[in-house]
Amino acid sequence: MHHFHYTNQNLHCESVDLAAVARLYGTPTYVYSATTIADNYRRLATCLPGLDVGICYAVKANSNLAVLRHLHQLGAGFDLVSGGEIRRVLAAGGDLSRSVFAGVGKSEDEIRLALEHGVMALHVESEPELARINHVAGTLGRPAPVALRINPDVDAKTHAKITTGKRGNKFGIPLAQAERIHEALGKLRHVTLRGVQMHIGSQLTEVGPFVDAVAKAAPFVAELRRAHGIEYFSIGGGMGVVYDDALASGRAEWWDAKPVAQRPLTPEVYGEALLPLLQPLDVRILLEHGRFLVANAGVLLSRVEHLKRGDGKAFLVIDAGMNDLLRPALYDGRHEIVPLQRDTSRRALVADVVGPICESSDCFARDRQLQELGEGELLALMSAGAYGFSMASRYNSRPLPAEVLVQGSAFEMVTARETFAQMTANEKIPAFLEG
Ligand code: LLP
Repeated sequence: MHHFHYTNQNLHCESVDLAAVARLYGTPTYVYSATTIADNYRRLATCLPGLDVGICYAVKANSNLAVLRHLHQLGAGFDLVSGGEIRRVLAAGGDLSRSVFAGVGKSEDEIRLALEHGVMALHVESEPELARINHVAGTLGRPAPVALRINPDVDAKTHAKITTGKRGNKFGIPLAQAERIHEALGKLRHVTLRGVQMHIGSQLTEVGPFVDAVAKAAPFVAELRRAHGIEYFSIGGGMGVVYDDALASGRAEWWDAKPVAQRPLTPEVYGEALLPLLQPLDVRILLEHGRFLVANAGVLLSRVEHLKRGDGKAFLVIDAGMNDLLRPALYDGRHEIVPLQRDTSRRALVADVVGPICESSDCFARDRQLQELGEGELLALMSAGAYGFSMASRYNSRPLPAEVLVQGSAFEMVTARETFAQMTANEKIPAFLEG
């Protein structure tokens, strides 16, 4: 569920008319609903009743400082993957003692930064990494809390580019090898084992792979609980969201109208399936969802540049490009596209919705049926709150877009559109080309 809806045929985020936001701040602009994030957070936090649950929001999904502050205030810790993300969480007032540091290639500097700020644990992905963490902790004179990321070899049944828990993926330690590593841990003086972690992939739409992965990992978690008294089991993130019917799925009737077997994965279904497997482990459970918390809480506002009629085909050229929202180009991601002003008297248009970038992959939708739109009219790409701005680039020397946060009838720009001066601030002409 989310808080985007039409009121008097104008698309609103909570009580804010999105056309007004576009007029004020220009386009392309990301807009996020704080209330949707809060609702999603509460649903996730209560999906495993009776268990001690911590949420470590995956910052990579949306690392805007205001979004991080909001999640911190809701009670979230964070799942971090770089020194930059650590610094963002600190800048937003977040708490590293409730956060974990993941990734296959943490540098010594990043490990030091995490330890100096009292991170809850570093998630270890290999033996050489464990040795590096032990070394850095030794130089700091403080033990490093760690958790072993295992690779349970489970097919997440999602896009190949976002599958992470299968043999052959670079992530995690195969279970058989993990047994050896935890024995070796005894010899390392500067690390303490705190937990076990796994993450099998992103945008999972069925609960089965989560159940299989937890069932595979559970005996190992139980063994480490006995042998080392580990405190937590992080089952990663990965819960998928509804991209196809993004706008309709914000309403309860949409869910109710679907036969139970066809309903999308929800925290409630996820929790109910996993609770019986997790309960006997008697450890704290960490959830590292990113997309579920923020995807349907965000839209990308854009303006039509032209309606170009080609050879038997129409192209709706908009002012957002693959540099602003990469998911369609990179993962064939589908985002619903809706006009900010709905006009049911207009004809339908079937068009490819494309950006201005000089690449054929700069295409948001092929042969999409839309209300006819013309130059200057506004539209929204729905469910763009996760992996939208955070994957944006300056390709074609386009400035990074603006971001706006809405709560009720209040809204504020939380990232200003980049200027040309900011875009080129770190560049210079070398002396040997001067003059
Ligand atoms: N934990 C770990 C260790 C991860 O690697 C990830 C995501 C998450 C948690 C959060 O997963 P989520 O709940 O958001 O699915 N850019 C891609 C998604 C990449 C996900 C990478 N890892 C996309 O736009 O679909």
